[in-house]
Amino acid sequence: MNDRIPAPASRVPVDDLFAGAPPSVSIYEVGPRDGLQNEKQILPTERKLEMVEGLIDSGLKRVEITSFVNPRWIPAMADHMEVASRVKRPQGVQLSALVPNMRGLDGATRAGMEEVAVFMAASETHNRKNINKSTEDALRTYQGVVGEALSRGMKVRGYISCVYGCPYEGTVELDEVLRVCHAMRQMGVYELSLGDTIGVGTPRQVEYIFRGLMRSGIDLDNVAVHFHDTRGTALANITVALQFGIGTIDSAVGGLGGCPYAPGASGNVSTEDVVYMLHGMGVDTGVDLDKLVAISARLGGQLARELPSKYLKAHLGHCARLGQTVY
Ligand code: HMG
Ligand code: MG
Repeated sequence: MNDRIPAPASRVPVDDLFAGAPPSVSIYEVGPRDGLQNEKQILPTERKLEMVEGLIDSGLKRVEITSFVNPRWIPAMADHMEVASRVKRPQGVQLSALVPNMRGLDGATRAGMEEVAVFMAASETHNRKNINKSTEDALRTYQGVVGEALSRGMKVRGYISCVYGCPYEGTVELDEVLRVCHAMRQMGVYELSLGDTIGVGTPRQVEYIFRGLMRSGIDLDNVAVHFHDTRGTALANITVALQFGIGTIDSAVGGLGGCPYAPGASGNVSTEDVVYMLHGMGVDTGVDLDKLVAISARLGGQLARELPSKYLKAHLGHCARLGQTVY
C-alpha cells in the first residue's frame, strides 16, 4: 500500500499556502430561496420579509429572495409574487430570484426584480426531474428567457447543478459541465454558479474542475461556487476554490437548504460558517457575524428544528453557558 503513495516533494510546499485567496469576497445569500424551498415548515411571508431585511442589515449585498417556479412543484415558494413585490430594496443591494421559463420571468418583471437567475443541471436526468425538460430543451428555453431578460434591462445569473455528481446518474462528465457553462455564457449570463447540488465534491475534484474551466477559457472572475454541505466537505472545497481566486461564494444562513429534486441533498454551506472561516483567514466579507447568527438562531426557532450551522451551535452553546436567552 505504502509504496503506491509518492513521497511529498517538501512538507511545506510554498511560503504562503493561501496566497491565491482574494482579499475580499462577495457572499451570495441563498437562504430565503434555496434555504427555504425544501423546509417542511413553510415560513409565513411576513417572516420571510423579516429574514431578507435582517440578512441585508447584517451586511449581505446579494440575496436570492424567492423563485418564480410552479407552486405545485415547490409549495414553499408559492408566495413569490408577494415576497418580491413587498421586499425593501436598499441602495447598493442586489436582489435576485430564480426563473425557470418565460412565465417565471414575466412574474419577476411584474414584481420589480432587476436580476433573475436561470438554472439547469449538467445532467440529463436531473433536468428532467427538476425542470421537466431535457438538457437541450432547457438550453433552448433559456436562450429565449435570458435574451428577453437582457432586453428588459435585467441582469441574469446562471446556475449549473450537479457539477460534482448527480443523484440519478452518478458521475457527471466535465465536458458536459463545460458545454453548459459555455452555452450560458453565450446567452449573456453575467455569472455562472457551479453547484455541488448533493454535496459529494472533494477538494481534489474542485481543483480538477477549476483547472478544466480555465483550460476551456471560462473566465473565473465571473464564476461563483455553490456547495451543499451534505458530507461535510463544503468549507474544504471553498478553501480550494479561493486558491483559484474565486470571489463569489453562495451560502445559506443557518445552513438551510436542499433541492427537493435531489434526494438526500441537505443544507447549503452555512453563511455564518463561511464568514467565520473567511474572516479568520483575513478575507473580508463586509458581514457582521453577530447580526447574522442572531437571524440564524431566530430561524431555528421559527422552523422548529436544529439548524446545521456549526457556528450557530457554538454560539448557542456559548449563550447557554452564560445563561443568556437567545433572540
Ligand atoms: P411543467 O409542468 O413542465 O410546466 O413545469 P408546463 O410549461 O408544462 O406547465 C404546466 C403548468 O405549470 C401550467 O399550469 C403552467 O401555467 C404552470 P396549469 O395550466 O396546469 O394550471 N407553470 C408555472 N406556474 C408558475 N410559475 C411558473 C410556471 N411555469 C409553468 N414559472 C417548471 C416546468 C419548470 C415550471 C417546473 O418543473 C418547476 O416549477 N420546477 C421548479 C423546480 C425547482 O424550483 N427546483 C428547485 C430549484 S433548483 C436548485 O435548488 C438547485 C440550485 O440551488 C443549484 C444547486 O444546488 O446546484 C439552483
Ligand atoms: Mg442549491
